[in-house]
Amino acid sequence: MAEPKENLQMEKIVSLCKRRGFVFQSSEIYGGLNGFWDYGPLGAELKRNVKELWWHAMTRQREDIAGLEATIIMSPKIWEASGHVATFADLMSTCKSCKKLIRADQVWDILIEQPWVQSLADVVDVGTQTFDGDALLRWAAGKGKRLAPELALVRNPTVTLSWLSERSKTSKENPVSAKEFYQYIATEQLTATGLITPCPHCGGELTAPRPFNLMFETWAGPLQSDENKVYLRPETAQAIFAQFKNVLETSRQKVPFGIAQVGKAFRNEITPRNFTFRSREFEQMELEFFIKPDEVIEAIHGSVFTPTPNAPLATPQPNWGWQAWHQYWVEERVRFYEGIGLSRETLGFHHQTPEELAHYARACTDILFKFPFSKKDEQGHVKGDELEGIAARSDFDLSQHQRFSGKPMGVFDDELRAAWAKLPKEKADDLWKRYYDHRKNYLTKSAKPDETPEQIAQQATEDANGLARGQYIPHVIEPSAGVDRLILALIANAYTETVKTDDKGKSETIYTMKFHPRVAPIKVGVLPLLKNKPELVNKALEVRELLRPWLNIYYDEAGSIGKRYARQDEAGTPFCVTIDFDTLGEKPELLDTVTIRYRDDGRQERLKISELLAFLLSKTR
Ligand code: GLY
Repeated sequence: MAEPKENLQMEKIVSLCKRRGFVFQSSEIYGGLNGFWDYGPLGAELKRNVKELWWHAMTRQREDIAGLEATIIMSPKIWEASGHVATFADLMSTCKSCKKLIRADQVWDILIEQPWVQSLADVVDVGTQTFDGDALLRWAAGKGKRLAPELALVRNPTVTLSWLSERSKTSKENPVSAKEFYQYIATEQLTATGLITPCPHCGGELTAPRPFNLMFETWAGPLQSDENKVYLRPETAQAIFAQFKNVLETSRQKVPFGIAQVGKAFRNEITPRNFTFRSREFEQMELEFFIKPDEVIEAIHGSVFTPTPNAPLATPQPNWGWQAWHQYWVEERVRFYEGIGLSRETLGFHHQTPEELAHYARACTDILFKFPFSKKDEQGHVKGDELEGIAARSDFDLSQHQRFSGKPMGVFDDELRAAWAKLPKEKADDLWKRYYDHRKNYLTKSAKPDETPEQIAQQATEDANGLARGQYIPHVIEPSAGVDRLILALIANAYTETVKTDDKGKSETIYTMKFHPRVAPIKVGVLPLLKNKPELVNKALEVRELLRPWLNIYYDEAGSIGKRYARQDEAGTPFCVTIDFDTLGEKPELLDTVTIRYRDDGRQERLKISELLAFLLSKTR
């Protein structure tokens, strides 16, 4: 069977990443380590640019966000409070034959990529459920035996095939689905076991799915005991909640405001896949944007602004509740992606359904990118895979840390206290009751086994009474982006192949990485026309020194100018500056000018050296 086009595209991208030094397999000389990747010279620059742009957009460009850089290992109590110790798990199955572990929700995605499934497509049309029993038996004795030795069809072909034939007799009214087909050929004792889902790797039987906690564990200190057990953080977000009070007190911020953090996180993924998309060590760019609860907005402003879905919300307003802030942050993040070269057409959205939402979340919108490996939906559209989730997490996280640490996480708001005193009784009662219900709901869901309904009601009453004193626990909107996924999206988006044919009819494939100049790893190639002319080289070195303090430049004097342009195109360098004889004054009117060559269309212009830096800065920032 032919290789699916999207896999070929990914293979080409992976190959370019290694060839040009974007991404290498971690520990490659020792055979690599599954789920871990290193960034080479170009990848490291690309990643640094993306993180800096995010940091700049989030903190320095705004009045209302402060930064944080917390440790990777923190008190394990943080992960108890956040729920990660108890529930941060994926369901996992183990193959009873080859012992490989597989994430239960990925079995079918992995299965369809396997050589044995692809080779079966030569003898069976799974889509229409037409199969030739003899051909299947021949496959089982030949390719099947080699590629999926533990498949029931391979081990006991006649029995297995008889179940499938029996089932397919009724296929007109109730056709055998593709999934069912694979389950039948994996099942030997239908009456005893029911249908079995095959191990994607060897065809063997999988165990029932069971939870597997994704946190990496280690010990702080010399004793490897339970008391010293700590975790590598599975997200950067929790440090922000744990340091909320310190940041609030030292940054002179007031709600609404945010705390931003960029850093490593670790998840012991059962099946890391799709190159760097799902890795075990990765980087996040997370913002926790703290807002007033809707009841507080209503007390102060009379009502909460209701946004029109999908209408742009560019300037925050004091009467925004969580829905407006959520919509604003989705839009703001899309603007960020557009600003680094990912057009809206390359993106998608997934609005999590109530079943998908975490129990404390009110809404979550995922921003997706259409990767080469992204699957098509039933209508044949590519929806994309997640770059970033923007969640409205209510006051869950701060409330949890308040309960587990015993330290107050609420804020005092003078405006609320003053407004509350002036509220008509009916309005105050209504807001009090809504806040009380929300708190009681949270406290009930998060109750410890020894907490009684009376204690919960008392705590909820105290929380709601706090409103009159100007006290509340802030709610939060969390835009949480994966850096490595974004880098992969930028690489996939930039990757361009062009076939060029010369006068003699000889064809050559040219690779250009069309990165947005803001993220491009190298901003400018500085090239003397000839390397054996000291005047040209010295002038080019002068230009290099002029630009180097400000921009990542690459000086290259080796090879023909065409080859040097091609090298920079493959690295994704948006501009090349060429120093030629006119720069030296061969045509006096062109003295101290250079050629700027544009990567994407090969266009060339002349520019004065004195104007070069300002021009390049304006294009790359
Ligand atoms: N903080 C959300 C996440 O890591 O997915």
